[in-house]
Amino acid sequence: SKKPTAAAIMSSPPQLLLTQDDLKKIAAYKAVEFVESGMVLGLGTGSTAKHAIDRIGELLSQKKLTNIIGIPTSTQTHEQALGLGIPLSDLDTHPVLDLAIDGADEVDPDMNLVKGRGGSLLREKMIEGCCKKFVVIVDESKLVDYIGGSGLALPVEIVPFCWKFTAMKLESMFMEAGCVAKLRVENGNGKAYVTDNGNYIVDLYLKKDIGDLRAAGDAILRLAGVVEHGMFIDMATTLIVAGELGVTVRNK
Ligand code: 5RP
Repeated sequence: SKKPTAAAIMSSPPQLLLTQDDLKKIAAYKAVEFVESGMVLGLGTGSTAKHAIDRIGELLSQKKLTNIIGIPTSTQTHEQALGLGIPLSDLDTHPVLDLAIDGADEVDPDMNLVKGRGGSLLREKMIEGCCKKFVVIVDESKLVDYIGGSGLALPVEIVPFCWKFTAMKLESMFMEAGCVAKLRVENGNGKAYVTDNGNYIVDLYLKKDIGDLRAAGDAILRLAGVVEHGMFIDMATTLIVAGELGVTVRNK
């Protein structure tokens, strides 16, 4: 059956049950309202960001947006944007971006994020750290009381060399929070998942709040073998949340 358009979803009566993907699309379309012709844009990764990129491609093809340059945060997004005819560049050429739009795995009450369950945290952090405005788009299921609060993973990108040693060090670093560190594997074949940068990801499962996020992040980064962690602390400037009762936009 034909999928409803975002316009139809947004104007639909409240009794219509929306899927999680509908909510992601609503948040994504709202974020694209911030995009103006001539902008250099960070293009996020994941199922929510994908909707935003599709929408940007659509507006470009309709000439409602012009002179956009996209900086993709993963090879996956690079492929998608290429297919949509979005002109692309990189940080070497465009070290300052006007705006980035990306999803998140968790958002805490201070708009700190967990990212990287899609595996692209390093490029996302590099690119989204160079944006004048970073718009985060989520459905309401991503809101948590504290980082790690979903019970799902806090991803850390590490070099493959002696990965078990690095995973063990990370686990013991957060022992008090009941941390369990697991190497991310590919679905199906059990082989180590390899990032766009040729690295591995260790997912940290936390049972308690780790407290001072900056201190935790700095401790992770001090460990040789770690490339980057998935906590995006104080980076989001705007948060768009789509829920059953509507869309909210919050600026920091
Ligand atoms: C990829 C990410 C994604 O933004 C995050 O995983 C959210 O994904 P989705 O929009 O599919 O829920 O950080 O590295």
